[in-house]
Amino acid sequence: MDRQQLRKQMRLKRRALSRKQQTTASEGLKRVLIRNPILLGRKRLAFYLASDGEISTQPLLKWALATGKECYLPVLHPVRHNRLWFVRYRPGCPMKRNKYGIDEPCGVRNPRVPAWGLDLVLLPLVAFDPFGGRLGMGGGYYDRTFAYKHRRGGMKGPKLLGLAHELQKTERLELASWDIPLAGVATDRSLYIS
Ligand SMILES: Nc1ncnc2c1ncn2[C@@H]1O[C@H](COP(=O)(O)OP(=O)(O)OP(=O)(O)O)[C@@H](O)[C@H]1O
Ligand SMILES: [Mg+2]
Repeated sequence: MDRQQLRKQMRLKRRALSRKQQTTASEGLKRVLIRNPILLGRKRLAFYLASDGEISTQPLLKWALATGKECYLPVLHPVRHNRLWFVRYRPGCPMKRNKYGIDEPCGVRNPRVPAWGLDLVLLPLVAFDPFGGRLGMGGGYYDRTFAYKHRRGGMKGPKLLGLAHELQKTERLELASWDIPLAGVATDRSLYIS
């Protein structure tokens, strides 16, 4: 199956989940992560706001805000083509809808950081494998944003952790030269460390 077919199939599967299943999954995801050392000692965390059937980060985000983490959301970079930067999110802060219909915190009054200023980035994805392979929506946003990891051996900057429903797991994805591997993926049921 090629990348396009796999994207289509997985997006259909995750969109078919009921509201109840989505809620249960997002609570499962929170349970998997809050007891894991991967969040310990990491202060600046980047989340995303779920769309298209993606697993919701809401319970985890609420927990992170309550425990004093600095939480950020991705914002389409105004100048650098197809790249993301990250703006601080606080409950009730002004938001603006981007061209994909996803809310972004307004960048004027909220502090923003470049990708390498974060400690942990939680990435949405369409499909994953247990070896760090990630297939996204096809825009290449995260790959471009973290492309510097190729040059610096992947050691510097935040840990990249994908979030997904368990049903988005595949045996093995064929990665392109530009694909940035993940340190792991957390689902509603397990944490896969690559
Ligand atoms: N570092 C880069 N520099 C320039 N172009 C890039 C880079 N990384 C990815 N791209 C381009 O982006 C396009 C989409 O990449 P890909 O199919 O891997 O998206 P994706 O990882 O599924 O998307 P996303 O990260 O937005 O969820 C590719 O055609 C590729 O040429
Ligand atoms: Mg990619």
